[in-house]
Amino acid sequence: MKDFLKLQDLQDNEVSSLIDFAIELKKKKKDGIAYEPLKGKVMGMIFSKSSTRTRVSFERGMIDLGGNAIFLNQNDIQLGRGESIKDTARVLERYLDLIMIRTFKQSDVDDLAKFGSIPVINGLTDYAHPTQIIADLQTVKEHKGGLKGLKIAYIGDGNNVCNSLIVGAVKCGAEISIACPAGFLPDKDVLAYGLSKKLLTVTEDTFEAATDADVLYTDVWASMGQESERLARAKVFAGKYQINKCLMSVAHKDAIVLHCLPAHKGEEITEDIFEKHAVTIFDEAENRLHAHKAIMCRAIDIL
Ligand code: CP
Ligand code: NVA
Repeated sequence: MKDFLKLQDLQDNEVSSLIDFAIELKKKKKDGIAYEPLKGKVMGMIFSKSSTRTRVSFERGMIDLGGNAIFLNQNDIQLGRGESIKDTARVLERYLDLIMIRTFKQSDVDDLAKFGSIPVINGLTDYAHPTQIIADLQTVKEHKGGLKGLKIAYIGDGNNVCNSLIVGAVKCGAEISIACPAGFLPDKDVLAYGLSKKLLTVTEDTFEAATDADVLYTDVWASMGQESERLARAKVFAGKYQINKCLMSVAHKDAIVLHCLPAHKGEEITEDIFEKHAVTIFDEAENRLHAHKAIMCRAIDIL
């Protein structure tokens, strides 16, 4: 039984094993080979924020693996009316085999794992988006043949996705260069981790980050929960923190572009670059399914 709360908790080789297992599961699915090790298992999926990819891919993934998933909108369960995480954990462990949760505070996800006896998967918090990054690294490996020694450039807000990308890239031996405006850097512990491994470069200059990059990655300027900051953030990011034709010109000729989605075209990425790289971006979205299946198998000790 293994929680999946943040990538820092995983050994480097566990990250690679998840990526390789996701690739294997993808092949099985394409070949029409059924693989149902989670028959009889039921996962609860708690959502306090919106989701298209995470919700559907986890639910479909659980069906593929032979199990079932129950969607639990926070506002439909007593958690939304103030029942504590601690009590929720002690109730849900009596009914379920696994929980996936998307919420605001990382400490709520950690507490759900701490107070319950069943594995918990972090489907996004303000701090981290670890399931996303396994799918992203899988996509890079499929398109580039490997990860070690590649240069990944992240352009934009130092948010949950950026935090997890730094940790995941470092664990795979990739160089990660981030360009974020002052005041919008990733969390301090993540910066310290990346810098200590000598694989992270931090700059405000998007061109410095993107130069000779093999992968360019971006995410929205304002994340879920930051809607009221949208205008103020746009003033800081606009005209600078964007993947566009000009920025692509300093990256490697065969550089790929990733975006966790949903995208705000015309803000963090231009429509032409998005469409030019749409195949990779939607491969990335598809890989959420395969990566999540690998993560659920690990949680139930299949991997
Ligand atoms: N990338 C991602 O997590 O998408 P959703 O918000 O649609 O789940
Ligand atoms: N940083 C974004 C990611 C969405 C998948 C958010 O938290 O809203």
